[in-house]
Amino acid sequence: MISAIKGMNDIFGEKAFRWGKMEEDIKKMMVAANFGEFRTPILEEIALFKRGVGETTDVVKKEMYDFLDKKGRHVAMRPEGTASVVRAFVEHGIGINYPAPFKAFYIAPFFRYERPQKGRFRQFHQFGVEIFGDETPQMDAEMIFTASRVLEHFGIDYEIHLNSIGCKNCRAAYREKLIEYFSAKKDDLCEDCRTRLELNPLRLLDCKACDPKNRFTDVPKMTDFLCDDCKNHFEELQKALHAFGVPFVLDPFIVRGLDYYTKTAFEIVAKTGGSQNAVAGGGRYDNLVSDIGGSDTPATGFAMGLERLFDLIPEDFYKEVPLSAGYALCDEAVLQLVEFTKKMSKENIRFLADYKPKKLKKALQKAEKTNASFVFVIGEDEAANGKILMKNMATREQKIFDKDDISGIISAINDNSAI
Ligand code: HAM
Repeated sequence: MISAIKGMNDIFGEKAFRWGKMEEDIKKMMVAANFGEFRTPILEEIALFKRGVGETTDVVKKEMYDFLDKKGRHVAMRPEGTASVVRAFVEHGIGINYPAPFKAFYIAPFFRYERPQKGRFRQFHQFGVEIFGDETPQMDAEMIFTASRVLEHFGIDYEIHLNSIGCKNCRAAYREKLIEYFSAKKDDLCEDCRTRLELNPLRLLDCKACDPKNRFTDVPKMTDFLCDDCKNHFEELQKALHAFGVPFVLDPFIVRGLDYYTKTAFEIVAKTGGSQNAVAGGGRYDNLVSDIGGSDTPATGFAMGLERLFDLIPEDFYKEVPLSAGYALCDEAVLQLVEFTKKMSKENIRFLADYKPKKLKKALQKAEKTNASFVFVIGEDEAANGKILMKNMATREQKIFDKDDISGIISAINDNSAI
């Protein structure tokens, strides 16, 4: 038997229905806030992620689905969306052709070769936003507000962990301080962290294996090293979040797993559902557009894991539209059922037709199995008289309609107690 690839999921049935509704709701909220949809290819040159996300990040070093294509070009399946949207932003001269702020959103699959576990997959989906051309802390606040609004829409209890990781200038001093601090504790670090200490000491604060930020006391904090500009940005951001009514806690050890961040960095953890994992994360990335070859353009954004979001949405948040099922009980009824199906389809009624003639008992058994709320049957009598029988599966009540009385049938469907 051929199975799906480990860490990659099929979505179908009831789950697909609720998943689609979740995406629809997000899209509606994004369009109202003037975010435009942005679609980029799944495959990109690997150089984009090396340069954008960072060569020493776990995402690029360990988790990339990369391969040589038939012409020997080294390509990768995107592990995240920001680098691709920035690549497209630069490639299409969007910064030149559109006024700032340029606000984009995406809902798309991403790929990371991680160890699959609850809430962690190798193909997963993100809803993300990227905002270009605005350096203000208020725009960071709007970006975080956007994430919180989505969680609130779905009735999810969340906690925002906020930090500033400074800019190129002030982070250098912090980096040195971290190297000095952790060099003295090298023997207590895991092997990965010893390498990180030399290549990318901020990544140590992210390590789940030896957990240095919680194991040691007095670990240096970036917020004590911020330059005046970054400090001011961070303070104004907090004021703007208060003005947006977005609650947050300061967390000096949020560093994010991707290298492009400057100043604002945040993660959102759900308080319901017992999930330990971040449901969303993001921040400001003022150097990425120029690093990818564009002109200096400030930018900010976040992404939310849709598998994690989905698991947090209460089961009864979306009610499935009741299913109607139609059955032919004799050969003469088959074409009448075809006509009826056409009419139901035109009226957008959720309808499942079964054209193979069968006995009433068998039809009702099938209807039960398919969870139909309403059953329509055309037997010999009905076929001869242009009628159709409707049965409410919950109340077992039934009523005969003229089969052309579509409006009467629809009102009966819409009002469960009408028959
Ligand atoms: P990230 O923190 O790597 O950020 O991912 C964002 C969210 O995607 C996570 O909080 C999590 O919910 C979900 N996620 C990540 N990896 C997996 C996985 N293997 N399985 C399931 N869900 C996962 C970014 O990707 C940045 N591009 C966010 C951003 C946008 N920053 C600025 N703009």
